[in-house]
Amino acid sequence: MKKLVIYYSFEGNTRLIAQTIAKAVHADILELKPVQEIQTKSFMKYVWGGQQVVMKKTPNLEPLIVKPKDYDLIFMGTPVWAFTYAPIFRTFFATNKLWDKKVALFCTHEGMPGKTLPNMSKALKGNDLITATDFLNVLKNPDANQEKAEIWAHKILVDIENQHQVFRSINQKL
Ligand SMILES: Cc1cc2nc3c(=O)[nH]c(=O)nc-3n(C[C@H](O)[C@H](O)[C@H](O)COP(=O)(O)O)c2cc1C
Repeated sequence: MKKLVIYYSFEGNTRLIAQTIAKAVHADILELKPVQEIQTKSFMKYVWGGQQVVMKKTPNLEPLIVKPKDYDLIFMGTPVWAFTYAPIFRTFFATNKLWDKKVALFCTHEGMPGKTLPNMSKALKGNDLITATDFLNVLKNPDANQEKAEIWAHKILVDIENQHQVFRSINQKL
């Protein structure tokens, strides 16, 4: 089973979780990079970023270094922006139609995740959403969040393997 972690990160929180998951389950990793990133880390980032969300912008995306279609299990992670996923994922969903993939979603936030995970799930209709989780204040509490990410990712693999075993034993009985 080919595994990929797709993520976007503006300030490193989601990157830490994405890298932790990729290492834990030996997955490839794909960072979504806007051609033009927001230029400030001050309070104005909320204004620029929030505006992109409200205006339903699709920022230009740098070419992808791998093809998500080549993978079976995809972990997908975003920071929460204005209670939903970051706008670069709007671009990704519009330009990369995924179908029949096993998908595990995660987001990172500061206490108000809003509808991020349900909205992502909606955008990925036609795929098999296995599970979704969120991580709070990642860089303020990296150890606990990394541990949570490792346990979560491992459990997904175990659950998939158990499901395969059930199917195998049913098929043997037929
Ligand atoms: C434009 C913008 C909007 C945000 N909106 C929210 C929000 O609605 N709820 C929340 O809990 N955190 C919000 N945050 C905080 C981020 O979700 C949080 O810090 C996240 O972990 C950042 O991930 P990153 O470091 O990978 O970019 C926002 C941050 C930015 C820059």
